Amino acid sequence: MSATIIVLGATGDLTRRYLLPGIAQLVAGGQLGDDVLLVGVAQDDLDDTSFRAQVAERLEQTAGQVDAGVREAVAAGSRYVRGDVTSTETLAAALAVPATVDRHDAEEPVVLYLALPHVLFEPVVEALAGCALPPQLRVVVEKPFGEDLAGAKSLNAALARVLREEQVFRVDHFLAKQTVLNLLGLRFANRVFEPLWTSREVAAIDIVFDETVDAQERAAYYDRSGALRDMVQNHLLQMLTLIAMEEPASLDPADLSARKVEVLRAVPTMSRAEVDARTVRGRYTAGSVTGRDGSRDVAAYTDAPGVEAGRDTETHAEVVLHVETPRWHGVPFRLRTGKALERDRREVVVHFRPMPGSVFDDAAPNELRLELDPDKMFLRINVNGIGDPFDLETVELDLELPRQVPTPYGQLILAILEGDTRLSARAEEAEEAWRIVEPILAAWADGASPLREYAAGSDGPAGDDVGSDSVGASEGGDE
Ligand code: BG6
Repeated sequence: MSATIIVLGATGDLTRRYLLPGIAQLVAGGQLGDDVLLVGVAQDDLDDTSFRAQVAERLEQTAGQVDAGVREAVAAGSRYVRGDVTSTETLAAALAVPATVDRHDAEEPVVLYLALPHVLFEPVVEALAGCALPPQLRVVVEKPFGEDLAGAKSLNAALARVLREEQVFRVDHFLAKQTVLNLLGLRFANRVFEPLWTSREVAAIDIVFDETVDAQERAAYYDRSGALRDMVQNHLLQMLTLIAMEEPASLDPADLSARKVEVLRAVPTMSRAEVDARTVRGRYTAGSVTGRDGSRDVAAYTDAPGVEAGRDTETHAEVVLHVETPRWHGVPFRLRTGKALERDRREVVVHFRPMPGSVFDDAAPNELRLELDPDKMFLRINVNGIGDPFDLETVELDLELPRQVPTPYGQLILAILEGDTRLSARAEEAEEAWRIVEPILAAWADGASPLREYAAGSDGPAGDDVGSDSVGASEGGDE
């Protein structure tokens, strides 16, 4: 496939770390032709030649495993437009580049990727209104889609004034993670799981994305966001929709999205008392973290450059939600995420209820654990032990999935090029997610569930309050 990919913010971190390697992987895999036209737009003082050198150097750093010939082809074909991304003139100049290249194909997909701070999304979209837009244009925005419900509505309205909904990709790279993608197949293609996926059989579900990485390098962005906006409003709620949805009529984008929206709409808006009882927020102090590359000392979050301690930004959030549908009534969904934690724990855990009236009194409840990055599955079951044949032993069936190629960003870019919106959130999904999260932010700003401190490298603030509504309390229940 040939394509034009215009990246606004082409000299930034998102482009370097994710978009360039994603594009290179697709070319290497043959899903994208090596005549892909990459048009970089930024304010840096570059021209075609120096931009190509920058692309080549960055690809070497971030896509070293991709064939050198492929990397060179991507860099050599790229072009640069210098200018203000919020000006109609700059955007028109970038959109005019494809017509100037030899292999120009007026039908090929044209992607406009806004690899920009979110405050620029709306000004860019407004500037776009003044350009002649090719009908096959696809516009990509990343989270956060606004800073609150009003912001998300305003951005969605701006997008709707200029583009058709199927041209808009509110991408969420978690939707392209192997284990998250697998939720649909696992649930809807396996007779051994789907009948069990109800409150009758399931006691609680955890959706956890704990990270050892701290917020230091991105503190200036992170301090205005916090864990709830950065992770829960988008990634974790998207995961919740796939875990809790009813089976869609088909795998078409509209059917899938309708099911996702149903889940979000079934999550009741929390009252202030519920925010107190069912959320925990924390902020890390100095400590020592053992991550993938060994141990390191981490300074307190409040000492990071760009952080204003008085903002009380949370680096850890835990929220227990309910999905009020016949299938899920009474089942807590515990969403948890944070930075500078004891270990990288990225998983969905389905806690099944204990066997009622079992002849064995020591049967551990079954548990299905789906780990992300690397992607693994574990199913905890009970079998007769190897000693006394009538004693139980609890064992895990495990499966390690092959490493995902292309990586999530490669998958996302491919889906965008194919016009497939299934790895994106539709307007209503983004707005419903804010409807859930906004009252929590408002209650926190008003002092609910006070911010707790945890030492970097620890397991986070003690979540005892939230726990009472969660896994421990539900196990053994028989709602
Ligand atoms: C991003 C968040 O969207 O996802 C980060 O802004 C987080 O804070 C990241 O670390 C996690 O995703 P991944 O795929 O890099 O592990």
